[in-house]
Amino acid sequence: MLKLLITRKIADPVLEQAKNLFDVTLHDGGPLSVTDSATALASYDAILPTLGDDFSAAAFSGEMRCKILGNFGVGYNHIDAAAAADAGVIVTNTPDVLTDATADIALTLLLATARRAGEGERMVRDGRWGGFGPKGLLGTQVTGKTLGIIGMGRIGQAIAARCHYGFGMDVVFHNRSPKVTEVPARQLESLVEVMRAADFVVVATPGGAETTKLINSAALAAMKSSAIFVNISRGEVVDEEALITALEEGRIAGAGLDVYEKEPFVPPRLLALENCVLLPHLGSATVETRQAMGQMALDNIIAWSEDRDPPQRVN
Ligand code: GLV
Repeated sequence: MLKLLITRKIADPVLEQAKNLFDVTLHDGGPLSVTDSATALASYDAILPTLGDDFSAAAFSGEMRCKILGNFGVGYNHIDAAAAADAGVIVTNTPDVLTDATADIALTLLLATARRAGEGERMVRDGRWGGFGPKGLLGTQVTGKTLGIIGMGRIGQAIAARCHYGFGMDVVFHNRSPKVTEVPARQLESLVEVMRAADFVVVATPGGAETTKLINSAALAAMKSSAIFVNISRGEVVDEEALITALEEGRIAGAGLDVYEKEPFVPPRLLALENCVLLPHLGSATVETRQAMGQMALDNIIAWSEDRDPPQRVN
């Protein structure tokens, strides 16, 4: 039987199926360090890793038994896919199945930040609510405003559809390559133009070297002081320090974040800001989606084990 390492607990039915087909080891010691990853690559035929496991280039420099990393997650910036290819290791991911759940979390953050839901919740729970008042916790209207999307891939387009059809928003976007979208939306010439035009900026690019600190202090400085910033992609896409400074100085109105530069670390200066809604990387966290992701990751490994092309291969 082929040896498969699964690096975190996944949905039971998927785990059971994996156990019927492979000699499964379920790692239960938290994220793999780069040394753990190197050891795993030398010891298992296949690995089902996820975000937080460090498969950077150094992991691929030693002995190599593993032939496939069936990543649980669409983002694979924790895996050096080129180094994996050089070492003869296939990498796959889990696109599509998490698009709706992740777009939903973007809307959760957009609405919660605009309508000060975090502050309101804290007020109710702390017993500080003094009752309805015409000027109590006034937020920003969402309906009819301009949405700026950075990265108009599958998730960006799902966010655009929700905002346009659900909230009558005008959608502008920035994308590396020209993109024709089904949802009415205008691609602007530059990132800065989108930052400047939007009442709500939502970042939905992939992570990785090409987008690291794409949202820097200059990009943030282009935003309206009334605008709200949302990130559901990867923390590294944003210069977190510059974002915190912009929020502290009131140069933007608020932020809704699902991702951070050094997860699970969230900077105390961010925690201190009332105008931020902070979620613990919940983008794909629904029962249905997480089961579908596990199934897709396993299906890729099964395809490889049966000498078929893994459908979601990325390298
Ligand atoms: C989650 O962030 C994923 O990349 O699937």
